[in-house]
Amino acid sequence: MCAAAVLAVVTPAASATESAVPPSTNVVGGTRAAQGEFPWMVRLSMGCGGALYTSQIVLTAAHCVSGTGANTTITATLGNVDLQSTSTTKVKSTYVYRSPTYPTSTGGDWALIKLASPVTTIAKLPIATTTAYNSGTFDIAGWGSATEGGAQQRYLLKAKVPFVSDATCKAAGGSYAGLISSAEICAGVMATGGIDTCQGDSGGPMFRRDASNAWIQVGIVSWGEGCARAGKPGVYTEVSTFAAKIAAAAATL
Ligand code: ARG
Repeated sequence: MCAAAVLAVVTPAASATESAVPPSTNVVGGTRAAQGEFPWMVRLSMGCGGALYTSQIVLTAAHCVSGTGANTTITATLGNVDLQSTSTTKVKSTYVYRSPTYPTSTGGDWALIKLASPVTTIAKLPIATTTAYNSGTFDIAGWGSATEGGAQQRYLLKAKVPFVSDATCKAAGGSYAGLISSAEICAGVMATGGIDTCQGDSGGPMFRRDASNAWIQVGIVSWGEGCARAGKPGVYTEVSTFAAKIAAAAATL
C-alpha cells in the first residue's frame, strides 16, 4: 500500500511563461519524447497522467480521482509533448469511474475519465488482456517530477525500465512487503536506481510492444518509495488483471 507521501497527487505548478527555463532533459533518468512518439499520452489537470483508452475515455489511476460520479472539474490535455503548445487539445471531463476495488486488499489502482467530446485524431493505447507482456523492458512517460521532490515538467519525458518480479519487489521491504502480487507489477533498476516514474506521473501508462510490434499498456503508474532509489522499484497497476473490468466499465460510460 502506498505511503501517504508517496500517494500525494501533485498540484501543477503555476503556469510558466513561454520564456521559462528549458526543463531538465532527464520521468527520472529520462529524455524528451519526440512529438507524436506516444500520441495517447494525456496530462490531467489534477496533476496526473493518463492514456487515451477510447476516443472519449482516459485510463488513469484510482488514486488520482476522488470517486465515481459526474465530474466536470478535470481537464485533459493531449496531442502535444509541450503542455504549453497552442496546438494541444484540451477537453473537460463529464464523468469519473473509480475502480470499486481500490483501495482494498484486492488492489486495482485504476479509473476511467469520460471526456466531454471524442478525440478522434489521436491514436489510442490498447490494454493488455493477458499476462503475456508482463515481462521484459517497459516504456514509461510523463510530465511528473524529473527528480524526487522536483518540479512538474513542461515537456513529456520518457524512459525504459526492466520488469522486476513480485518476489524481488516484495523483498525490497517497507511498503513493498505489502505488494499485491495479482494486482501490481513492479519495474525499475534494482541495483542502481536512477530511472523511474515519479510524483505527477501517476495514472500514466507503462507500455511495451506486443508480438505484432504494436504498443500495448501493461501498467498504470501507482506508487513507489521515493523515486528512482536503488532497491526501490516503481509499482504499477497490473493492467491485464483488470482488463475485463476496465472494458466492462468503459462500455457503460
Ligand atoms: N503516486 C505517485 C503520483 O501520484 C506516483 C509515484 C510513482 N513513484 C515511483 N517511484 N515510481 O504521481
